[in-house]
Amino acid sequence: MTKIDDCTLILFGASGNLSRIKLIPGLFRLDTLDRLPEKMKILSVGRSPLEESAWRDDIKSMLDIKFKKNYDTKVFERFIARNFYQANPPSDENAFKKLSDRLSNKSTFPQNLAFFLSVRPSDFALIVDQLASVGLTEESKSWRRVVIEKPFGTNLETAQALQKSITKHLKETQIYRIDHYLGKSALQNILLTRFVNHIFDPLWTHEHIDHIQITNNETLGVGERTQFYDATGALRDMIQSHLMQMLALTTMEMPKTLSPENIRAEKIKALESIIPIPLNELHKHAFKAQYGRGKINGEEVKGYLEELKNPKSVVETYAALKFYINTPRWKGVPMYIRTAKRLHASDTAIAIKFKKAPLSLTEQADNWLVISIQPKEFTRFEIETKIQGLDTKVRTVAMDAPNRIKNDESIDAYESLLLNLMQGDQSLYLHINEVEASWRLLDPVIKAWIDDKSPVFTYEAGSSDPVESKVIFDNPEQFWRQSIEIGENKL
Ligand SMILES: NC(=O)c1ccc[n+]([C@@H]2O[C@H](COP(=O)([O-])OP(=O)(O)OC[C@H]3O[C@@H](n4cnc5c(N)ncnc54)[C@H](OP(=O)(O)O)[C@@H]3O)[C@@H](O)[C@H]2O)c1
Repeated sequence: MTKIDDCTLILFGASGNLSRIKLIPGLFRLDTLDRLPEKMKILSVGRSPLEESAWRDDIKSMLDIKFKKNYDTKVFERFIARNFYQANPPSDENAFKKLSDRLSNKSTFPQNLAFFLSVRPSDFALIVDQLASVGLTEESKSWRRVVIEKPFGTNLETAQALQKSITKHLKETQIYRIDHYLGKSALQNILLTRFVNHIFDPLWTHEHIDHIQITNNETLGVGERTQFYDATGALRDMIQSHLMQMLALTTMEMPKTLSPENIRAEKIKALESIIPIPLNELHKHAFKAQYGRGKINGEEVKGYLEELKNPKSVVETYAALKFYINTPRWKGVPMYIRTAKRLHASDTAIAIKFKKAPLSLTEQADNWLVISIQPKEFTRFEIETKIQGLDTKVRTVAMDAPNRIKNDESIDAYESLLLNLMQGDQSLYLHINEVEASWRLLDPVIKAWIDDKSPVFTYEAGSSDPVESKVIFDNPEQFWRQSIEIGENKL
């Protein structure tokens, strides 16, 4: 277990949704697991004045909801004693000086400081400026780290502007950019499955792999988030970070070691090796659609435009892309990435389709390796075996490896991220080169889609992929896997 320095976590936006649901309960869980350093403190910062006792009562209510009042009272007492509140009203020009003065009390607050900015993205740069103005980003005596929530920019230009602004005060080693998918154990498992099992590496090439599909589908619609979603779209919301990270983990070369630096270096190389989509052939590489009315689990649901109350929106709720990677390993192998709302099933998975064997039988299905991320976590090889009997016939069977077995600890992504933050391990956080590489690939597509005012394809809510999406496949034998289960695959 890596030793963690005593430190203070300063949580901006502590009363917000993310903090209530994930961060405070996540810190409490880490305390329950004895993973917080003994003297660690949490200073929550909000814009409104609040008595410390009222804040501690509020924390109790967050934990009561999250853990249904089922937690150890001794750990609770220890946890609550770590917590403090500081009001930072925007009208007070000395607010950050007061914050700095309070933090300088060494007997209460360990001097290694981690600032978690769980606030609106438009406030990230300003808060870093304000922290720097009172010397709180200065690392001469103890470490100073800043977590930037997602999204890191809304395109390449804004990402670079944010980077330029925060690097006036912070070095790369001080910046922790969140893609919470990287905190998921199932994503970390991709890397370990690939590299600690020697059997996979020889298979992981264009000689054996026909194509790869990276999928995140949901039955949920955009819900209350219509305005946010219409300004964002599926490409930015899911593909730009989460699915591109899954692609990087699936296709990266083996790192020299499993150290954070080496893993990140290989992920950066993988993202930078992806060939940009040629805009003159955009329709063969990128497909978008919107959900219309339909039924989810037997219930009628509205279409996207009805929910948005704007019949003119051309923003995608379904996005599918095809990329190639410019490395000898991946020569000519299409990488299909798709995400959708209101599809017939919810799943996040990586599905690798292998090439046909030289000796194939006519009824033979394809070999797939499926790494399922959610809702189920497993790795599954689908192979053909003989059906018992007199004939030479085969059927598909699964070699299943559950990634979660009974009594395994269940760790939320934010718990891993918070722990790594305190450990100074950046492997689960994004390097600026990854963020930029990803925006560089997606920006041109996003711009082309915004400019394209032609009618958008629609799919019925609760249906499978729009048939028109097949246009991006390299050949008629390729199809979207419809499920992580065997036998329900063809569109
Ligand atoms: N990684 C993910 O999956 C994920 C998911 C959801 C959200 N996010 C990101 O996480 C961040 C927070 O999201 P959220 O849903 O929690 O937002 P939220 O519910 O709107 O909360 C933001 C909080 O920030 C506080 N705040 C605003 N300006 C502040 C300042 N200058 N100093 C201190 N506190 C300030 C506000 O509280 P007061 O009014 O009390 O100050 C508010 O409660 C956003 O950047 C969002 O994009 C990430």
